[in-house]
Amino acid sequence: MGKRIWGQGELGARGKTCFKFSPLVPLSPCPLVSPAPSAPHSPKSMPTNTWNRHHILSLADFTTTEYDTVLQTAASFQEVLSRRTKKVPTLQGQVVANLFFESSTRTRSSFELAAKRLSADTLNFAAATSSMTKGETILDTAKTYLAMGTDIMVVRHREAGVPNAIAAEMDRLGVGVSVLNAGDGQHEHPSQGLLDLFTLCTLIDPASPRLELLKGKKIAIVGDILHSRVARSNIWSLIASGAEVHLAAPPTLLPKLFAEYISEELGVRNYSPTPQLFLHWQLEPALQNADFVMTLRLQKERMTAHLLPSLREYHQLFGITRTKLQLCKPNVKVLHPGPVNRGVEISSELMDDPEFSLIQSQVTSGVAVRMALLYLLGSGKT
Ligand code: MLT
Repeated sequence: MGKRIWGQGELGARGKTCFKFSPLVPLSPCPLVSPAPSAPHSPKSMPTNTWNRHHILSLADFTTTEYDTVLQTAASFQEVLSRRTKKVPTLQGQVVANLFFESSTRTRSSFELAAKRLSADTLNFAAATSSMTKGETILDTAKTYLAMGTDIMVVRHREAGVPNAIAAEMDRLGVGVSVLNAGDGQHEHPSQGLLDLFTLCTLIDPASPRLELLKGKKIAIVGDILHSRVARSNIWSLIASGAEVHLAAPPTLLPKLFAEYISEELGVRNYSPTPQLFLHWQLEPALQNADFVMTLRLQKERMTAHLLPSLREYHQLFGITRTKLQLCKPNVKVLHPGPVNRGVEISSELMDDPEFSLIQSQVTSGVAVRMALLYLLGSGKT
């Protein structure tokens, strides 16, 4: 399916606990060229002239301008969502189809609500109750939704690359349909990466969230990195912001091959400032003086081998607790994309502690960010 997409990796050996990536090979940046179409029903402060992307499949090639456009647009929609009437007519007459070939609670509901708040018509598909059980292919399913007049397809699949394949087919057909990746295998989950970014930036400056606010912040991403599409999307956005990113996991969940993949990908991008990415096979150096800690679920459904001796040992070594947070900055905040294995990757009491946990605000931010994404893709179609 086109470009190589990271899949299963061989497992790393024990040894060095931390290595840092060095300066990268510069390439020409990817400019945003033409102004985006006007948005007749947009909230007042909405940026409208900086968007030129037709599909959102990955954050790997997002530019600073695109991140900032999403953040500002989401902030405008956050304001709309605080009003008594939370709906705008922006995507009236358009059809958003949620094609979830893999199960989901928050992402699917959040996209559905976002589309409804923009006044789009929504179609919801769940593989288990669809004609796929009768042998229909993924592309034929997508074309069925196309025939019903779908403008934007939000696609989740357990195989990496499926949203890219649907986007390529829509482009081949020349039908102007946009595809939004809502999580594909172990590859990426761009809307989660963007809502995490929005959650962090609005915490620092609610009135004006922007990428540069994270410059120099220390952010630890802890847990099942190997199987996490959330980590892969977050790595790109946080690196682009100039944050110091520390990945921490046992070697079976943070293999050397992953380090090579990241290093290879970083090598062909032109980041400024130079990326600060560190890998640790122990938790403590990642937590030391961290501003934010992102925990990840152990993704047992994607594990093909027994990668951990026991959940109890994992929690002891890598589970985030209030005690372990004492290593971080005093105002540290903790994120988790959900769903959470309580008491495994994060202690139950910490998860529910509003002093530290941003988990509920991530879910809330998700609606505004997904409204922004649908708006940016859809406003040129009316
Ligand atoms: C995902 O779809 O990847 C989730 O948001 C995170 C998870 O499943 O752990």
